Amino acid sequence: MSITNAAYQKCINPDCGAEFDCSESFFKCPQCGELLDIRYNWDKIEVPKKLSDFAKRWASRKNRLDFSGVWRFRELLNFCPDKYKVTISEGQTILQQNDLVAKYVDVKPGRLYLQYEGLNPSGSFKDNGMSAAFSHAKMVGAKSCACASTGNTSASVALYAHHCDLKCTVFIGSGRIAFGKLSQSMDYGAQTIQIAGDFDDCMRQVQDVCTKLSLYLLNSLNPFRLEGQKTIMYRIIEGLGWEVPDWIVVPGGNLGNSSAFGKAFYELKQLGLIERIPRMAIINATGADTLTDLVNNKKLIWNKGKVNNKIIDDYYADLTARNFSPHTCASAIEISRPVNLKKCLRALDICNGVVRAVTDEEIVDAKAIIGKYGLGCEPASAATIAGLKHLRAEGVIAADERIACVLTGHPLKDPNVTVNYHKDKQGEFSNPPIEAPNDLDELIKLIK
Ligand code: F0G
Repeated sequence: MSITNAAYQKCINPDCGAEFDCSESFFKCPQCGELLDIRYNWDKIEVPKKLSDFAKRWASRKNRLDFSGVWRFRELLNFCPDKYKVTISEGQTILQQNDLVAKYVDVKPGRLYLQYEGLNPSGSFKDNGMSAAFSHAKMVGAKSCACASTGNTSASVALYAHHCDLKCTVFIGSGRIAFGKLSQSMDYGAQTIQIAGDFDDCMRQVQDVCTKLSLYLLNSLNPFRLEGQKTIMYRIIEGLGWEVPDWIVVPGGNLGNSSAFGKAFYELKQLGLIERIPRMAIINATGADTLTDLVNNKKLIWNKGKVNNKIIDDYYADLTARNFSPHTCASAIEISRPVNLKKCLRALDICNGVVRAVTDEEIVDAKAIIGKYGLGCEPASAATIAGLKHLRAEGVIAADERIACVLTGHPLKDPNVTVNYHKDKQGEFSNPPIEAPNDLDELIKLIK
């Protein structure tokens, strides 16, 4: 039985539903322009009978695929033969139980977990998706690739592209990405093009560039990327002794993660590997809150795939008419036209999800708390804790529910936001450095 038959691509639009082999490469349905999904014929895949069977791979970690936190779960993203699988040991992440951060959000001890994705090779969750997407790129024989980015995608693409010997171009909004991320894409050797515009402009341009020049696109429009990102959920379940949490809290930008997480849980339930699906909270920044507005105010829903396009079209037309450009200190999620919007609506449906937006002030305060008591993170990641604080205050999440927040990126990604918060005493948890003379007695007086 050929492995390519075990997986195929399918348009998410129920009125289209076109199917394609995984050996083909598109970033939108060639028939109707909607998003594509990777689907599996599970009866053709030897999926372990229970999730804990995956733990056996820990015993064979000299095998590069078993060492990868993505490919350890390979039966659940079985779209390409092993020989194409790309890994640079992504997904060696930590699920940290954290009672001090729990106290800040009024959650009972033992119930809050932080899934720290900053430990990935390029310092963000993106590497999970890139290991999968670059495997597909190898499978289809791609030689050159591109992405648009708020910074982390470009860092990750640059790292993986050169590992796989692909040429790579990244498009970023000029002045819109954090320094740590910009330094990575340059250092990892990507051709880095700064467009006079924001992420949404970059995203539009990169699609046309990829189409015209037949470059392989690595944004989360690429359905293979989302397959890799599903594994973040498998590792959370693994960290909880193969139990599902009550809530997953995730920042919302281009909405690839939330889409992937919903799909992961749907499939696990379908396979009988979990008994219930956790709820999901997606957190926007108030300066880039398209999802919050569309879901909470405009009542946009998945509706079995028959999404009301007029609501979205009118919303975007209004953004254009107002010449709106999103702004938040959490530059990673400074996005107003999220490409995975519809898949995210599906994930909200699957996970009985909620959406909230938090201010930059709430984000930087939460970030300081995660820095002080946890492993630190970049601003977008801290939106999770700021959002959880809201949801606890509203009573949507109870104090004794088991909650996993996804900390998507490493604290050193964006040193400017951190230094400014502390040095300029921007918030209640600022911890500015103290100026001191070069004198022992004076120094001793300062120590508390
Ligand atoms: N957190 C971080 C650190 C990110 O870099 C991103 C997205 C998100 C959250 C949002 O994730 O798009 O799955 O909803 N960064 C992309 C980039 C857009 O280009 O690096 P999402």
